[in-house]
Amino acid sequence: MSDDIKKGLLGIVVDETTISQVMPDINSLTYRGYAVQDLCEKCCFEEVAYLILNKELPNKTKLKKFKKELENNRNITINLREIVKHMPKKAHPMDVARTVVSVMGLEDKDTSNNSPQANMRKAIRIFAKTPTAMAAFFRSRKGKNVISPKKGLGFSENFFYMCFGEIPSKEIIKAFDISLILYAEHSFNVSTFTARTITSSLSDIHSAITGAIGSLKGPLHGGANEAVMHMMNKIKKPENALKWINNTLDKKEVVMGFGHRVYKKGDSRVPTMEKYFKKVSKIKNDKKFLKIYETVKNVMIERKDIHPNVDFPTGPTYHLMGFETDFFTPIFVLSRITGWSAHIMEQHAANKLIRPLSKYSGEKHRKVMLLNQR
Ligand code: COA
Repeated sequence: MSDDIKKGLLGIVVDETTISQVMPDINSLTYRGYAVQDLCEKCCFEEVAYLILNKELPNKTKLKKFKKELENNRNITINLREIVKHMPKKAHPMDVARTVVSVMGLEDKDTSNNSPQANMRKAIRIFAKTPTAMAAFFRSRKGKNVISPKKGLGFSENFFYMCFGEIPSKEIIKAFDISLILYAEHSFNVSTFTARTITSSLSDIHSAITGAIGSLKGPLHGGANEAVMHMMNKIKKPENALKWINNTLDKKEVVMGFGHRVYKKGDSRVPTMEKYFKKVSKIKNDKKFLKIYETVKNVMIERKDIHPNVDFPTGPTYHLMGFETDFFTPIFVLSRITGWSAHIMEQHAANKLIRPLSKYSGEKHRKVMLLNQR
């Protein structure tokens, strides 16, 4: 392949952004200039969502107003609820997520208005309503009644309430919040770039987020947290982990939840998520996955110098919290809607149609022969 082709856009800087900075050399990630670990330590998920969307952290009054706005926008239409209830029970929840955002685009009164104000209104609505629609599917596919959002609950509490009908301990909610903060934004990853590419034709936010969800679904991107759990289930017990990982590496197979296009010395989000994975394992009194995690991680680093990415600890953490495996990537969606929305608004503010070139390597120029001459 010729040198001027940058397959996978490897190493190409395509635009500027003020939303987040991934710094692989110093193993750091910042949102709007704040280290993500600092945000995890001192903020709830709603504060970080506000920061990503509005460029600044909220004060008490602004946070209260933002939370109220989310609460007021959580209800989905009867139409959407019925559509969700009638979706095939075997449908993958990521396909459901993609479809519900698309349906919201049919229902939103601002769909064709791409002004900054309308885009912010739509971003808030998508952010507030998607958990409600996904929780409805979480329950309806099991033949359970759909639970409406409840006023007075935070983002994470409300999501647990709508899925399980109850709210877990503060520690579990904190661990879930942390995972959402870590998943919220990550510069020009493939789903964000998809959202920006769709936006660059001056399309609307619902279309861009629908496309981004399709992109996130793949196992090389967000789908990795689900793939990690399948891998852990295949390993079954800690005693099998060493043999399994060595065999897998001998066969030169890809190990899900490891490696990253940008981070080559470790993912800056992993130490924080690992800490909360350990806490949740302790609370649930189930260390099986933690033991598998440690063995696989040690061998991967020792043999390949390839480090875990954030999907490795989030997968088993969500499992311990009671979510079904195919719901892990939709949880990622609920959070990343903030990052995608900020990028969509940034793209609109300084747009240039995204249209790369390709090098043609097909047949040389040839003449069309008439049907009876071929
Ligand atoms: N397991 C085993 N080997 C891996 C690996 C993994 N998870 N990730 C990378 N490698 C190996 C590759 O096989 C390659 O080896 P080679 O040079 O002998 O061919 C080398 O490391 C470089 O990998 P490459 O595929 O060029 O890196 P990339 O930047 O294109 O890929 C990912 C990045 C994320 C696509 C890749 O690491 C991967 O597939 N990971 C698993 C899926 C995953 O967890 N995705 C979530 C990312 S946040």
